[in-house]
Amino acid sequence: MRSLLPLLVAALVAVTAFPDGADAVWTPIANPGTLLVKQVGNFAVIVYSNAGPRKHRPLQLVAVVGGDTQPVGNGVTDYRLVLAVNNTDTGSTAMYQCVVRGKPGSRATTWVLRSSRYIRRRHS
Ligand SMILES: *[C@@H]1O[C@H](CO)[C@@H](O)[C@H](O)[C@H]1NC(C)=O
Repeated sequence: MRSLLPLLVAALVAVTAFPDGADAVWTPIANPGTLLVKQVGNFAVIVYSNAGPRKHRPLQLVAVVGGDTQPVGNGVTDYRLVLAVNNTDTGSTAMYQCVVRGKPGSRATTWVLRSSRYIRRRHS
């Protein structure tokens, strides 16, 4: 993930230059189709699918629709993603927003799903 370093530095510089409230540090993800972003989205869906108090939810990531990132220090990043998620039982697709925290390329740091919420049904 060395190639992401200049981007991260640029984001940090931007944050320093515009300390404009908590939300100002989120930077839009230019390409939500990259493997890393898809992996983060998949992680969120897998954790969410197994986090319910009842049975496993039959959910599958269709696509990462968009998102933002926010550096939180020590190379750790928050990914706030909008996900199109398929219910493989019913075949219906819905939109979810999640926030995942992790450090790309690090095995020492555990990835965490910090929040996830249903946004709306999507007709497919
Ligand atoms: C949703 O899952 C069902 C069952 O696996 C599959 O037939 C359908 O193609 C999936 N839809 C999308 C949009 O991935």
